[in-house]
Amino acid sequence: MRPIVIKNRPIMSEERDRRFKDFETLRSEVRVSERLLKAAHGKKYYIRTYGCQANVRDEETMAGLLAMAGFSKAEDENQADLVIVNTCAVRENAEDKVFGEIGLLKSLKEKRPDMIVAVAGCMIQQAHVVEAIEKKYKSIDLVFGTHNIHELLDMLDEVLATHTRLIDVRSRSEVVPENLPSVRTERFKAFVNIMYGCDKFCTYCIVPYTRGKERSRQSADILKECADLVQAGYQEITLLGQNVNAYGKDLKDGSSFASLLENVAKLGIPRLRFMTSHPWDFSDAMIDVIGQYPNIMPAIHLPVQSGNDLILRNMGRRYTSASYKDLVDKMKAKIPGLALTTDIIVGFPGETEEQFMDTVEMVRYVGYDGCFTFIYSPRVGTPAAKMEDNVTDEEKHRRFSLLLKTVEAEAEKRADAMVGKTVSVLVDGTSKKNDSVLSGYAENGKLIHFQGSEDLVGKIVKVHILESHLYSMMGEIVHD
Ligand code: SAH
Ligand code: SF4
Ligand code: F3S
Repeated sequence: MRPIVIKNRPIMSEERDRRFKDFETLRSEVRVSERLLKAAHGKKYYIRTYGCQANVRDEETMAGLLAMAGFSKAEDENQADLVIVNTCAVRENAEDKVFGEIGLLKSLKEKRPDMIVAVAGCMIQQAHVVEAIEKKYKSIDLVFGTHNIHELLDMLDEVLATHTRLIDVRSRSEVVPENLPSVRTERFKAFVNIMYGCDKFCTYCIVPYTRGKERSRQSADILKECADLVQAGYQEITLLGQNVNAYGKDLKDGSSFASLLENVAKLGIPRLRFMTSHPWDFSDAMIDVIGQYPNIMPAIHLPVQSGNDLILRNMGRRYTSASYKDLVDKMKAKIPGLALTTDIIVGFPGETEEQFMDTVEMVRYVGYDGCFTFIYSPRVGTPAAKMEDNVTDEEKHRRFSLLLKTVEAEAEKRADAMVGKTVSVLVDGTSKKNDSVLSGYAENGKLIHFQGSEDLVGKIVKVHILESHLYSMMGEIVHD
């Protein structure tokens, strides 16, 4: 049996702890050892990413590092010499998918024992997962978490040199790494991290444990990255953070999300988006900036989670249904053409029928353009997982379907109202179903299909909307 080296394991009490020293920006250059350069020559990697945009951006960084070492990208796992599974822990079904993937890789590795399998990401920040991998999933060569991605090449080098299995998962991050290379997934749209981690500790959520304390990047670093993207011809930037409203609070230099957003907008990127915003500290200054700059898209993802005050309190969300509605009213008044989307959890521990109906009422009040609905999934070690949950699975599913119907009815109304209007669309590519049809997103985030030539890809064009469907719309291009 291969020896195993365990450098660090995640410890939940340390992940929860927020009383430790400030962060340093790490600016050291990435170095690739001669040994790794030789080993990577002619080899291919594949990264399978689950979860949210934070993971997508992490994949881009990992890909950048691997490219520096000389790896090229494989089409899929079958063609790869190195596979990294980039995991998500937010709900049980996300974790189930990862274990399915690990099973598939085990059989691939039986055929090709030289293949290297690494598992990374949020799931790995949980002690019980690392223990399971250590004891049961022996085909995995390298296990690392969300806090040491910047050390990927050193870890790979060690695995290759020593032929041991390596586990290195830190409980916390003390740095904000800069100067990391990246291979961006898309040519015209880019994600830019403005901060890492989350300090909100909503009672159901694992993210503050898996991603650590809130750490903002220096605004000069963010602006430089965005300016480079504008220069390179990118048409859209999405600023990323688990809760972007908290940007800059930890820097203690007066930085705020409102001023950052304004400064990025001024760089002249044609489209600017951001996600996610917490309804609790969405400032008036932010609303004003969004309303003032036409290149800040009027599309805001504003997770409500529930429409009932007691459930919101038990979730630790820090707002009431009334204050959420006030915020929505204020946004609608100041941001022309505003589209709101949201996340909702059904079947939080102890949720009654009446409390659930408050959520349905909220959906009708706001009239969301889109909504991600989830059935509550208990996460090990979170406060909500210890709350009494007397709602049956059957009942949760019934509520889920009812909610989905309401959400769809509202989204349909919003979509129908676009028919006959002319909207701006950033063309992403040809439609998945039909080569002669182009597809892209309107400013409000709606998916639009229309006939057009492929050279329009990456451009922003005007499209007249003809038909509306639940998840997409059909239109025709408007020539000036
Ligand atoms: N930081 C983001 C969300 C990250 S998780 C925010 O606060 O908006 C994305 C969504 O997953 C959450 O908004 C929530 O609706 C859902 N979610 C998180 N934990 C969950 C759990 N334990 N069960 C079900 N859904 C959950
Ligand atoms: Fe999770 Fe709440 Fe943080 Fe969002 S704000 S990541 S839901 S703890
Ligand atoms: Fe999942 Fe981690 Fe994102 S738990 S939702 S990948 S922050």
